[in-house]
Amino acid sequence: MENHKLIFPVEENLNQELLKYFKGERDGYVQVGPKKWFLPVKFKSLASQYKNFRVRPDDVWITGVPRSGTTVTQELVWLLCNNLDYEAAKQDLDERVRYYELDLVFNDKTTEERIMTFSGDKELERLAECIKNTLKFLDDDVKRRTIKTHLPFELLPDDILRKGCKVIYVCRNPKDVAVSYFFYEKGSWHLNFTGDFEKYWNFFKNGNCTFGPYFQHVKQAYEKKNLLNVLLVFYEDLRKDPRAYIRQIADFLNKQLDKKEIDKLENHLGFENFKKNPAVSKALRDVDNNEVDFIRKGKVGGWTEYFTKKINNEANEWINENIRHIGIKWPK
Ligand code: A3P
Repeated sequence: MENHKLIFPVEENLNQELLKYFKGERDGYVQVGPKKWFLPVKFKSLASQYKNFRVRPDDVWITGVPRSGTTVTQELVWLLCNNLDYEAAKQDLDERVRYYELDLVFNDKTTEERIMTFSGDKELERLAECIKNTLKFLDDDVKRRTIKTHLPFELLPDDILRKGCKVIYVCRNPKDVAVSYFFYEKGSWHLNFTGDFEKYWNFFKNGNCTFGPYFQHVKQAYEKKNLLNVLLVFYEDLRKDPRAYIRQIADFLNKQLDKKEIDKLENHLGFENFKKNPAVSKALRDVDNNEVDFIRKGKVGGWTEYFTKKINNEANEWINENIRHIGIKWPK
């Protein structure tokens, strides 16, 4: 069954409510297939391109729900695939590891208006070019490709698994993901979420945030974790033992690292250095053009500052039920 073609509009009252809160999305949302993947309406015109893209057996894909630690993992993977070339890594990470469905997450009307308001902004002009051309840039790339995506497995080309591309799926505690995603969607002009955390949490938990439902996304990856070309990693492990995280991914990519190389990677990827690195940590701009941190706090358990008792009880019930169902074991 071709689930990527089973695209339904979100129920009208919910759609109106979402449009009220997510001011950057002007056209509304759809749900895709029996899992009800929640995506902007634009997916209708992009689904086939995303499904039929020509993959190469040596591609490396980095994926996971947004805000799970994909960016830092992208940088690690790119360095491992490019002979630890720190000089070349001074180029923007966005240009080195392309974001597969960039086009999907930028609403056309919102982007056009932004470009008119900030005409002459070079960064914005480059972004607009990438939005329209990411798949072409990937097609034209003559080097080994490292690609980032947040789409669930089901909506990606089947050849990714058939042709033996390597896939690294980053997983993070949903409570921390929800908080991080809230700040990201609030602070990005193209998403512009205008509600409070409680409102956001309800959308997130019910699978009504872009790339949701969270546990369906994780489940599709967890079911594939024993495939030779799939590696499931946890953000919590990165924070607890970055050297083991680096080694785990290097082993998966068949890269030998000596102690000095691991030292240098650990230092380069360390939260404070990473935050200061202009190639990976571009400031987000909110709707009023204020700078917002993309690399925010990097904490495990940071959710405690934002969850009320009520949200936490509800979250625990939801998480426990899903963990039991999926059989996933979270790092201690
Ligand atoms: P917080 O918002 O909790 O700080 P993604 O890259 O998938 O969007 O994930 C973003 C999350 O990863 C953010 O979490 C961000 O701060 C965190 N992060 C980014 N770089 C990091 C690094 N080098 N070390 C630890 N966490 C990092």
